[in-house]
Amino acid sequence: MQRAVLKPGKEKKVKNFYPTVYADELAEVPKAPGVTRLLAAGGEPLGVGYFEPGSRAALRLYRFDEGPLDGAFFEARFLEAGRRRAGLGPYHRLVHAEADGLPGLVVDRFGEVLLVQARTQGAWALKDRWIPALKAATGAQSALLVPTEYTRKAGLSLERQALWGAPPETLVYEEDGIRFELPLELAQTKGFYLDQRENRRLFEAEVGPSMVVLDVYSHVGGFALRAARKGARALAVDKDLAALGVLDRAARALGVAVDVRSGDAPAVLAALVAEGRRFDRIVLDPPALAKSPRELPRAKRIFTELLAHAFRLLAPGGRVWVSSCSYYVKEADLLEAARRAGADTKTRFHVVRITHQPEDHPWVAQVPETLYLKTLVLEPYPLAP
Ligand SMILES: C[S@@+](CC[C@H](N)C(=O)[O-])C[C@H]1O[C@@H](n2cnc3c(N)ncnc32)[C@H](O)[C@@H]1O
Repeated sequence: MQRAVLKPGKEKKVKNFYPTVYADELAEVPKAPGVTRLLAAGGEPLGVGYFEPGSRAALRLYRFDEGPLDGAFFEARFLEAGRRRAGLGPYHRLVHAEADGLPGLVVDRFGEVLLVQARTQGAWALKDRWIPALKAATGAQSALLVPTEYTRKAGLSLERQALWGAPPETLVYEEDGIRFELPLELAQTKGFYLDQRENRRLFEAEVGPSMVVLDVYSHVGGFALRAARKGARALAVDKDLAALGVLDRAARALGVAVDVRSGDAPAVLAALVAEGRRFDRIVLDPPALAKSPRELPRAKRIFTELLAHAFRLLAPGGRVWVSSCSYYVKEADLLEAARRAGADTKTRFHVVRITHQPEDHPWVAQVPETLYLKTLVLEPYPLAP
């Protein structure tokens, strides 16, 4: 097996289970891409991974010992990932890349159908080892490879394709009795945001029948539909008409009504403020607003604008649920944006709750990038004069 050698002093983070080795941390590299042993400067073996020449993240480690990356290795990783999700029901993220010791590989389980993403050159290069292992470990009837923006970023030009079996044209997802049917195109680009499942549950628990709820960046309306079935009046806002169509069909199947507005969320929020509308609960769940540290100031400005609109729209006693799914927007950044929005609207508020992604999107303490989803629940609390 070919080898790469770290520069002196660079072994500490690898020994502490950080799986990515950057090109500038390596003193000696192999000539070709492929499975590679990593050694410390002094020759101590540290792990085995996939080496991608020319990539900044040059070596991604799959294991922190000397073992092989064969079918048995992948099957054991998939079985362990499955064991850790036992009890989550048939719909969950089964593999969350390096958080499950499988860099570049993401697998969402929808009952008998798996949606698989290869997000690195290495993950795709090793496919003949992990595809049979995934099939054996899950017993799923079909698996579909879905290229996403991550696939393109990794320089892979892959078509959507069945890895085995005959995946359906429509993906069915059921969450606590709400049934969604997503065309594959939408499932591929956006999926079902399984990572908001726990928040949707917590949210439903605090919605009452007399409430008015605004679900902004609603996608297929996971929050709005739960509010509607509790008897609340719900309005969902998203720019994606296909997602709103899925919402509509799910609402009819559930026997509830949800109002929808399609359009750009900040503009719709401004219009609702101008209309003098009031809401008891507002969900703000935008897409990743900062995909690099450079984009953080802009992301904070957008969060401030969204939260200022939300504070203006809240009825007395109301709450805002605001989420960020960007790793680069930290909890402190979201709080700072909320404080700025509070200053702009003269709103004193409490932080009622902070949540993070659920356990099928694991957060590895030693890999900071694995913590990406933060949600603040904010409640204005004006002091009596
Ligand atoms: C993180 S997802 C929301 C997930 C949703 N809350 C759920 O629980 O399923 C972000 C959504 O924002 C929508 N979106 C992105 N940019 C938008 C914009 N400028 N205005 C309105 N919606 C937008 C996308 O179509 C996507 O459905």
